[in-house]
Amino acid sequence: MDTIGIALIGSGYIAHYHARGLAELPDVKVPVLCSLDGKAAEEFAGKYDIEEVTDQINSLLGREDIHAVVIATPNKYHAPYAMEFMKNGIDVFVEKPMAVSALQGKEMIEFARKNNRILMVGHMWRFDAEVNYVRDLVQSGKLGEILKTKGYGIHVNWGPSGWFVDKDLAGGGALADMGVHAIDTVRYILGDPQPKEVYAKISTSFGDYDVDDTGIVMITWDTEAVSIIESGWWHPHTDGPEAGTQLFGTLGYASLFPTFWEKKKGDDLEKIVPDMPERKEHCDQVIYSRQMKHFIECLRNHTSPLSGMIQGQTVLRIVDAAYESARTGKVVKL
Ligand SMILES: NC(=O)c1ccc[n+]([C@@H]2O[C@H](COP(=O)([O-])OP(=O)(O)OC[C@H]3O[C@@H](n4cnc5c(N)ncnc54)[C@H](O)[C@@H]3O)[C@@H](O)[C@H]2O)c1
Repeated sequence: MDTIGIALIGSGYIAHYHARGLAELPDVKVPVLCSLDGKAAEEFAGKYDIEEVTDQINSLLGREDIHAVVIATPNKYHAPYAMEFMKNGIDVFVEKPMAVSALQGKEMIEFARKNNRILMVGHMWRFDAEVNYVRDLVQSGKLGEILKTKGYGIHVNWGPSGWFVDKDLAGGGALADMGVHAIDTVRYILGDPQPKEVYAKISTSFGDYDVDDTGIVMITWDTEAVSIIESGWWHPHTDGPEAGTQLFGTLGYASLFPTFWEKKKGDDLEKIVPDMPERKEHCDQVIYSRQMKHFIECLRNHTSPLSGMIQGQTVLRIVDAAYESARTGKVVKL
């Protein structure tokens, strides 16, 4: 496979990041865009030198020039599209959340295994320099044993509209949109522990829609560390940029966004602020570009992605458990 052909599905907000990421890579071509956006899709294709535009998803099957797809559609279509492509021998990158339920995620994993396909999920924070700095810190043991973490994904005085606030298309609200990032980020930093118990309070408090915009989730990992995750849209305040994580260990404390750490030294704390590359935006293009680069490397070498199907489905298991806990008022054991 000299030149890798990728079909892009969706031409909305996040598809631009993927198109830019793919355009930076040698020997990668996007021959076709599939979108329902009409004229806007034509403009998108023009901008990134994509020769063809279609609104017929099935026309992407059976083409010699398509080795993989990037699915950047509303969440409802992630699983059915991914499974159809994998069944037809095509590798898949799918945006987060991987699917609208853990069960769907499990089916996708079975399809990937049965058809020997790569299935990568867009948990792009795994490719961020600051996230990796904090992860290395935790994994090196400098913070000691991690006892608790606090993380969030919250939009202040802003929230999405359209399909994002339609349960049928999105599967869930702020937890499925923002909370999934916070869950996967802390799980990655902690070395991918398994969730044991989930307890949550989730509500719709800021808008007239059938999805959640406010959530607090408590996860107990198999390491016995406990993570609190907050998700939200339209909140009046949050602790920093739209996402952040704090980790509390027996030997020290670390903060991701802003990124620094504090080491216990007797009665004192020494603060260390690392030199990190400047960010143009909180969700910087460079994260998405590295994510696409990794996807292409996995395609070329047929290796498992860092943000793979197991990682994506584990987040969904936690999200499903959180919704169940919020509904029943009980702790859900996984
Ligand atoms: N990782 C991130 O930082 C991040 C950020 C934003 C969105 N996302 C995820 O990306 C996905 C897309 O979000 P977005 O903000 O780009 O949405 P969007 O509304 O901006 O774009 C959605 C695109 O999907 C297309 N589409 C809709 N239904 C389709 C169908 N049935 N078949 C083919 N195409 C279809 C639309 O035409 C549109 O181009 C979602 O899963 C979302 O959760 C991830």
